[in-house]
This record gives sequence, C-alpha cells and structure tokens, in this order.
Amino acid sequence: MGQLLTSTESLDISISKELEAQGVSRRNFLKFCTAITAAMGLPANMVAKVAETITSPTRTPVIWLHFQECTGCTESLLRATHPTVEELVLDMISLDYSETLCAAAGHQVEKSLNDSATLNEGKYILVVEGSIPVKENGIYCKIADRTALDILNDYGNRAAAVVAIGSCASWGGVQSSSPNPTGATGVHEIIKDKPVINLPGCPASPYNLLSTVLYYLTLGKLPQLDGKGRPRFAYGRLIHEHCERRPHFDAGRFARQFGDDGHREGYCLYELGCKGPETFNNCSSILYGDVGSGAWPVGTGHPCFGCSEEGVGFTKYIHEQAEIFTETPPAYYPGIADEKEMGVTPGSAAILGGIAGAAIGSGYMAVSRKNKLEAEVTEKEE
Ligand code: SF4
Ligand code: F3S
Repeated sequence: MGQLLTSTESLDISISKELEAQGVSRRNFLKFCTAITAAMGLPANMVAKVAETITSPTRTPVIWLHFQECTGCTESLLRATHPTVEELVLDMISLDYSETLCAAAGHQVEKSLNDSATLNEGKYILVVEGSIPVKENGIYCKIADRTALDILNDYGNRAAAVVAIGSCASWGGVQSSSPNPTGATGVHEIIKDKPVINLPGCPASPYNLLSTVLYYLTLGKLPQLDGKGRPRFAYGRLIHEHCERRPHFDAGRFARQFGDDGHREGYCLYELGCKGPETFNNCSSILYGDVGSGAWPVGTGHPCFGCSEEGVGFTKYIHEQAEIFTETPPAYYPGIADEKEMGVTPGSAAILGGIAGAAIGSGYMAVSRKNKLEAEVTEKEE
C-alpha cells in the first residue's frame, strides 16, 4: 500500500471488480465498450468514460410502462447476449417498475410505482412500450382501473425524459393499421412538453436502447434526434446503404421468387418487397438478435418489411416494392438464367458488383450493365 494510483488505474481496478462479479472478462468488456462508443458516434477517447458509466454504482431510476403491445421489445432485450445487454442495462438503471419483471403484484407494485415517481420527480426516465388508444377517452386499454392515456399523462409529465421503445410506442405500430379501431397512437402525440425519444422497431434493437441510455448517462444530455425523434446515430442511414446484398442490387441481380436460384445465391430481395431502400435503421450495420453474422431479417433471406418506419411497416403491403430515394432499380434486367447464358457467373458478377458498388457507388454498374445489354440486344437484332 502507500502507492498512489492514477485515475485510469483506479478506474481499471473498479471495472475489473465489477466484471469479475458479473463473470465477464475485462478484455471482452472493453471490446464491447469500444464498439458501443463507436455506434453512438462518439470518439475513441470516450471509451473509458463509457466503461465508467456502465460500472458506476449510481443508478438512474426508470419506470417502464406497458400498454397496447406484445412485450416483444422487453423479450428482445432479455434474450440478448454477448455480454448480456439486459444485464448492462439493468445494472445501469434502477428499474423501479415494470409489469413484466416485477416480483411483486397488486397494490404492492402500484405503491412502488407511485413511490418512485414521487421520490424521483423530474429525475426518472420513463420507458413506454406499446401504443396508446385514444378513441372514446382511451377505454380500450386500462390498468388498475386507469386508462393508458391517464397513466401516461401522469407519469410522463413527471419524468425527466421519455423513451418510446418499439414501433407501437413510437408511432402506433401494428395496432394503428387501418382502420385503427382503438385510435392507437404514439407517445409523442400525447406528451408534448417533455423530450420524447423514439426507438422504433418491431421489436426495437436492444442495442439502440442500451446506447441511448448510455449516451444520456455518460454525457448528461440526450443524443441528437432526427425529424421523427429518433437518435441520429442509430437511425441516420437507410438499411439499403449498408446491406450485405447491396452489390447485387447495384449489379441488377434480384431474387424473383422465394426459393428460386437468385434467392439461394443471396441476391437482392428488392423485387420480393424489401423496404430497405426506404427504412432508416441500423439493422444492416450492427445486425440484430445477437446470434452471429447474418442475424437480421435480410440476412436470413426475408425482405425487410420496414418494421421501424412510420408509413411503411404495417402500412404498405409486404410484396409492394419500396420507393428508391437514390436510384430507380433496373427492372428491365433479364433473369439470372440469361446472365449465365451471357457467360457471367453469379459469383464473378457478385465480386465485380461488390467492388464497383463499394468504390463508385450504385449508379455505375447499373448504367454500364444497361449499356452492355442494350449493345447485345442491338447486335442480335442486326
Ligand atoms: Fe438489401 Fe433490400 Fe436494399 Fe436489396 S433492396 S440491397 S435486400 S436492403
Ligand atoms: Fe425491421 Fe427491416 Fe430491421 S423489418 S428489424 S427494420 S431489417
């Protein structure tokens, strides 16, 4: 003893102790912190601060309300692994009320909800999962004889900030599909005088919740939001921009039917109704479900149906083709069999498409292939 420690060394020791208690190796933890810091768009010198926040003994009080929903967002959080996201989230916060996770029930749990809101007025984060029915004064969703509308107004107006987790809480979700019989709506339509952060998705990515909470706790302010109240670091780009099938899109190779050769080769799912070109989310870059590479809808062979995008998910038909903001896809391209006849194997075309897509953007391949095809057609006609 008697030796003075630098602040980094003492931080190291406290992190190590915390991790030891959780059974997570220090190396894995720091790798995780580095990745999550980058995902939040923060510089590398913030990694130590993020690690400190995660292992800090101070817990921010959180009240988690459930309204019209399937509990999928909570389930998705609890099923995350590597290192267990739910442990990190639940260790950073003091979850004072959650109908899914509370051990207590009845009047006892109602009391803890009221006690926490009164004691921590203006300091707690309110997380809302599920849409709020507003038709006929909100009678379609009642808990303990109070409407969801009344509960949200009560606890929302006393919170420091509100996080609407999932598409239902963000903008109404599946319940708001036409004809929307209960008048299901999102939190921001009701809470007007508090910051409301939307984390849409069906379910929402647990990493987006973790990084939003971490950002708030590390920097003491909310992340920058886009026009739809979503953190820009998570929802700033279209799925289409980072999709692993993008080189196929650029080269005009599309799966035309589920199970056809193109589908098996991993071609672009645009013609099967993929809404990646009009959906803002980070599924294609940070993946989803945390079970290895390819673990996100498009990676498994299913078109993105725009679950997180208002006006797309649960609104457009699944087979309907997405709007392309950047470029119209070459719908007149021949089928995959014709490509083989032209002497271009899907493998070599994929590599060429990938290099061209990455190097010079989407337009070039489509245009050069179009020119090549047109030249061949003219040659044949002659
Ligand atoms: Fe990926 Fe869908 Fe875009 Fe094709 S349309 S590149 S499958 S996001
Ligand atoms: Fe949803 Fe599309 Fe991502 S369906 S989970 S936004 S790939």
